Amino acid sequence: MLLRILGTAAGGGLPQWNCACPGCAGARRHPSRRRLHDGLAFHGADPGAWFLANATPDVAEQLESHPGLRPGNAQERTPVVRVVLTDAELDHTLGLPRLREAARIDVWCTEPVHKALTARLPLTDILSPYTTLTWHDLPLDGSGPPAEIAGLEVSALPLSDKRPRYAADEPAHPAWSTALKVRDPATGTRALYAPALASWSDPLGDAISGADCVLLDGTFLDEDEPHRTGMSRRTATEMGHLPIQGPEGTAARLQPDGARIHYTHLNNTNPLVDPCDPAHERLAGLGLRVAEDRMVVSL
Ligand code: MLT
Ligand code: MN
Ligand code: ZN
Repeated sequence: MLLRILGTAAGGGLPQWNCACPGCAGARRHPSRRRLHDGLAFHGADPGAWFLANATPDVAEQLESHPGLRPGNAQERTPVVRVVLTDAELDHTLGLPRLREAARIDVWCTEPVHKALTARLPLTDILSPYTTLTWHDLPLDGSGPPAEIAGLEVSALPLSDKRPRYAADEPAHPAWSTALKVRDPATGTRALYAPALASWSDPLGDAISGADCVLLDGTFLDEDEPHRTGMSRRTATEMGHLPIQGPEGTAARLQPDGARIHYTHLNNTNPLVDPCDPAHERLAGLGLRVAEDRMVVSL
């Protein structure tokens, strides 16, 4: 299995168009610090068969930046587009309209996410004059066989009932926000992708321990960051993202148990967007690191 990391920034990207905070200003001064919205592409034994995990507002540039994802010489166009969604947030779904030049787009997601993307953001109606959008159920982990997508087994581990703000009045459901569990049946290797972690659970801890590679919510470094930086009056946890540091933070829970853990979905307020910030060294001491755009992980 191969994972291509297409982007590692939270909603807004780095730099964010209307922001001059130290993180955004640093990324304007040092283009190597720029980060696109977080998303991945996965493939198994056949490199020509891949799926996207989330479709970000940057998706077209992200596909162009990975030569393996561009259309081949023999065909004029990429024949099949497959997208698996962790949630219905705008930073993970606005790429679907950008893919409308495809002949068809197959999307796997949980039931509340499907409802949000067809009833609240009427994507099926909007895209039907352009392409054929086909929705598939993304099985919840342990509730039956996983979906087989591009030769890989994929299921969704429910994480929380965090709804996108445009669907905040929808009923609670445990699978609004999920982690993707991906297994390659040919090699038995496993990857886990959890870009929005509102709370910790034992099944999540087990999934992390059992994975060969983990991409985990690294939106905020500490609980007070949104408030301190003037971004929000809410804490990181209240915004649906457990912080990395602190007593309830994810770093303290992650034992360096052989799983390769990379933080992703970094907000532009996160000091980790500066590669010189000392927090990088502290994380490295725990066996943890920050994912980088265009990283490729082979499992
Ligand atoms: C989030 O990760 O909390 C959301 O993507 C925020 C947003 O709507 O930009
Ligand atoms: Mn987000
Ligand atoms: Zn900023």
